[in-house]
Amino acid sequence: MRRKRLLDFAFAAGCAGKACQADLFAILKKLPRIFSPDLIVGSDTADDAGVYRLNRNTALVLTVDVLGPVADEPFTFGQIAAANSLSDVYAMGGKPVACLSVLGFPVNEIEHKTIRAILAGAIERMRTAGAVIAGGHTFKDMEIKFGLAVIGVVHPKKVITNAGACPGDVLILTKPLGTGIITTALKAKKAPDFAVRNANRTMIELNRRSAEVMCRVGVNAVTDVTGFGLLGHSWEMAKASGVNMVIQSATVPFLPGAIELAGKKLYPLGTVNNYRFVKPYTHFARYLDTTTRLVLCDAQTSGGLLIAVPGKRGAQLLDQLHGSGVKTAAVIGWVEKGNGRLLVA
Ligand code: CO
Ligand code: CO
Ligand code: CO
Repeated sequence: MRRKRLLDFAFAAGCAGKACQADLFAILKKLPRIFSPDLIVGSDTADDAGVYRLNRNTALVLTVDVLGPVADEPFTFGQIAAANSLSDVYAMGGKPVACLSVLGFPVNEIEHKTIRAILAGAIERMRTAGAVIAGGHTFKDMEIKFGLAVIGVVHPKKVITNAGACPGDVLILTKPLGTGIITTALKAKKAPDFAVRNANRTMIELNRRSAEVMCRVGVNAVTDVTGFGLLGHSWEMAKASGVNMVIQSATVPFLPGAIELAGKKLYPLGTVNNYRFVKPYTHFARYLDTTTRLVLCDAQTSGGLLIAVPGKRGAQLLDQLHGSGVKTAAVIGWVEKGNGRLLVA
């Protein structure tokens, strides 16, 4: 029997294994709402993580995220899954402290050393983050699914949500887009090596330094760009904040190779779904072709932070991001008065 590669155990076609955001909103809307004076951030505002106040000085940041394989090297996949799970804590201004792994795999079809390498990759990233893996849960599955539930801490008054963007803010994105397109091309064996290498490096990178810098400078709103794509997450932020956002596509950083692969229609279904979802809320300049629109909606794994910072501190934030090693950070637009619409030029 032909040895299967890790990517053969990726989720079958679908929204990259995720429920579509549109379905998710419809499902959540009909559930009873949860109120607690200590639940500082719940599921109402489609934020990155829940935040629960323990006492006057400490709140917990709670999040869980699970992925199918997006890389062929198990260690790399473990690193990516860990960086991806940690990201939602950073996106709330929190510091990760402990986590639990969640792992499903076809027990008789996968070698122990493969699973061990996935976990070793996650341990390496957690060490870098200064967080511990306290345990986990495994289950039998047809596909490989791996991720972590992460607990972080934050001062209750220093939580940064996606709902605080103000007119006059500048929008900064810290990582280039295109991981969904490149990993889709990789699954189809159509991705050039350089594109995969760059995508992996981007996905493995923690959002820790970006988060440290933004907390120091002081920002109004932040979210990480993941499965809903840049425009999907921008829309969530615009809606939660009650503002409009202008995105200048020419300034948005892309991974090398991503646009070319998108031109060959190698994008995940999740990306197409994101585009369909944001369209009614978005005004695209006429000259923007479909490929550009789709790349802006590309479903990301372990994407960067999208930060809304007061205009007068924009240059300072960008400088400090670059100075701390986040070289790919770029100003991609600004915030205007409005009601949750996007203008893409
Ligand atoms: Co998030
Ligand atoms: Co998440
Ligand atoms: Co268990």
